[in-house]
Amino acid sequence: MSRLVIVANRVPNPRERGATAGGLAVALKDAMSRREAMWFGWSGQTAEATATEPSINTQGKLTYATLDLGREDYRRYYQGFANATLWPTLHYRLGLALFQRADYAGYRAVNAAFATALAPLLRPDDLVWTHDFHLFPFGAELRRLGCRQRQGFFLHIPFPPFGLFSALPKAEELLADLAAYDVIGVQTEDDAANLRGALVAVGQAEAAERVAAFPVGIDAEAFRKLAERAMDRADTRRFSQSLVGRDLVIGVDRLDYTKGLPQRFAGYAQLLARFKAHHGKVTYLQVAPVSRGDVAQYRSLRRELDEWVGRINGQHAEPDWAPLRYMTRAVPRPTLAGFMRIARVGLVTPLRDGMNLVAKEYVAAQDPADPGVLLLSRFAGAAPQLPGAVLVNPLDPDAIAEALDAALSMPKEERVARWEAMRPAVWEAGARAWGRDFLAALEA
Ligand code: G6P
Repeated sequence: MSRLVIVANRVPNPRERGATAGGLAVALKDAMSRREAMWFGWSGQTAEATATEPSINTQGKLTYATLDLGREDYRRYYQGFANATLWPTLHYRLGLALFQRADYAGYRAVNAAFATALAPLLRPDDLVWTHDFHLFPFGAELRRLGCRQRQGFFLHIPFPPFGLFSALPKAEELLADLAAYDVIGVQTEDDAANLRGALVAVGQAEAAERVAAFPVGIDAEAFRKLAERAMDRADTRRFSQSLVGRDLVIGVDRLDYTKGLPQRFAGYAQLLARFKAHHGKVTYLQVAPVSRGDVAQYRSLRRELDEWVGRINGQHAEPDWAPLRYMTRAVPRPTLAGFMRIARVGLVTPLRDGMNLVAKEYVAAQDPADPGVLLLSRFAGAAPQLPGAVLVNPLDPDAIAEALDAALSMPKEERVARWEAMRPAVWEAGARAWGRDFLAALEA
């Protein structure tokens, strides 16, 4: 069996196994356990200059090869072109996108430097699987160095219609570089149609045929167990007691402007103002760990949310009830799993999202005998897969308030029926199937 080389900007920390590992690491665990494998990417550290040789850490059949990024490269490639240009553009937010030619040059330079560092480590029959928007040109850079291995690419975030994407200076160059990959995976059929359209529009019709949708999933059984076991944990019990019988609404998102948090807070404020029956009877916990806190748009979002929290609690709180609890620290997964199981409503309202695994985790965490309601954005990649969710337009706070009222008042039979309708997709279209299907396509 050929070795699997996973290339991603974020490489998991070798010490972070099991419950603390991030989404991609969890999704690939199965594929990586059955063969020799290597993680290649950024170390998460910055240095004076970008390293030319990776530091290597081998643990059995698994090798981690990572590079420090030079401070200037970090600024241009990561904060700049990846997170201030591509991220907003691919999430349909052209108004937030900054374009600077120097950032683009830094992005290309880091992709080339990564390829130069990986090439000497490659064996002829390796499978190279590159992930996400940080690395569009990576495969083409490897080809320029003469690497002939099978190469796959998976885009974890949305791909917008070409009319929008083409506003990006250098859009054509990025699309042309994608043609280096033998398989080009995206999350949904909509993304696939958009990306094919874009490739055809720039004369890459042949590459368009290599685009396919592979919706990413979770290890539902593992998350279910985590949630079930959490019921015996002291932190779950303490939290549950603190609710003093009130219904819990939960939101868990990186603090990112794609997640629709201001609109969601506005929707909750509307619920409190318009549907008095819930006054004093509901608690909303929003966990929003700070992310990319050194990028300007993220800093201003944080200030905006701080204001919302103050406004909502200031207006609606009672001496013994705060309607909104908000934290920007990360909460460990086992603790979150328990909180999700307790929550009557899972509130997942991104303005755009590639997939959104929190929605699937919320479903997996529920008690089948008395499940909560998933309130989900129409614009999350997960929406077409989760027919039992209550779908909302995340831009419409009135609609969010009405959907919250409906979810909080929903009888148990309907909650059970909706949950049952989502169970097959969450369990069967899981992480393992995703890795297996993509690799099968890459090997074919
Ligand atoms: C999204 C992206 C990932 C990224 C993650 C965290 O899920 O698709 O590629 O790693 O956000 O963002 P960060 O910038 O901290 O890596």
